[in-house]
Amino acid sequence: MSVDPEKLNVPRPELFDFHGVPMVHYFTDNWENVQNFEARPDDILIATYPKAGTTWVSYILDLLYFGQTSPERQTSIPIYERVPFLDLFVPDVFSGKDLADNLPTTPRLIKTHFPVQFVPKSFWEQNCRIIYVARNGKDNMVSFFHFDTMNSIEPEAGSWSSYFQRFLKGNMLYGSWYDHVNGWWKKKQTYPKLHYMFYEDLSEDTGREIDKLCSFLGLSISPELKKKVLSGVQFDNMKKNQMANYSTLSVMDMKISPFMRKGKVGDWKNHFTVAQNEAFDEDYKEKMKDPTLHFRNEI
Ligand code: A3P
Repeated sequence: MSVDPEKLNVPRPELFDFHGVPMVHYFTDNWENVQNFEARPDDILIATYPKAGTTWVSYILDLLYFGQTSPERQTSIPIYERVPFLDLFVPDVFSGKDLADNLPTTPRLIKTHFPVQFVPKSFWEQNCRIIYVARNGKDNMVSFFHFDTMNSIEPEAGSWSSYFQRFLKGNMLYGSWYDHVNGWWKKKQTYPKLHYMFYEDLSEDTGREIDKLCSFLGLSISPELKKKVLSGVQFDNMKKNQMANYSTLSVMDMKISPFMRKGKVGDWKNHFTVAQNEAFDEDYKEKMKDPTLHFRNEI
């Protein structure tokens, strides 16, 4: 399924309340169908708050499963077709649900940004493996800000200072970062087939995190494949890889900000004022009461 640039040349969408979560219509228009998605037991769902490292982990999984058997994928199928974005629906242009339904591969790798309460029930009923990727709130906010400046299917970013306030209030597409990361963390306590991982850990030691993923997925990979995955998912390699960097999608204006922007931990330091940092830390203490969920905000 390709994306028709003409059809997506539309005004920026507005946020509205959808079952208590701010959303835009692109991610709710196909709600009934998406909710009735028929997951299979071997489907793997990659769930994240937007900009937490979804594409990075999607690419790792794609290479783990298909890097050896289908090397041609690496040059012919963009990541958004290999790992469909279940939530996204643009009539006559793109349906993540249809794409997921028709994936020819096993396992099917599927992406969502839904808060945990929005996940279609068949994923739980089929006891699917789910990988949740979380990123520290400060960097997540910065990355989301730049993304919203360049992506025409997201609400306008506005100024950095207004964006900062919106993030703290939780008035963001897909809702509050705090609710998202906490909601999924809570789910992990009762759903053993949920692997909760952190962008910062992946950045610190990608090989170690790949080993953890393999153990969660029950995969045993050769040293050659591991080498291939590690090289393929290096930031600079993904940045120049047209199948990974979204350059084939017209909804994003990479001249404003590239999808593969910096790929760093701690870029918030280049954006937050001292006062903003204090306000964030204060707010964080209030909202993040669970001592078992720890983000490395300061690195
Ligand atoms: P930045 O905007 O901070 O650079 P998502 O895929 O969830 O939309 O997340 C996008 C963020 O992950 C962007 O962050 C992007 O640069 C970063 N990213 C993508 N691939 C990466 C990689 N291989 N290594 C490090 N960061 C990566």
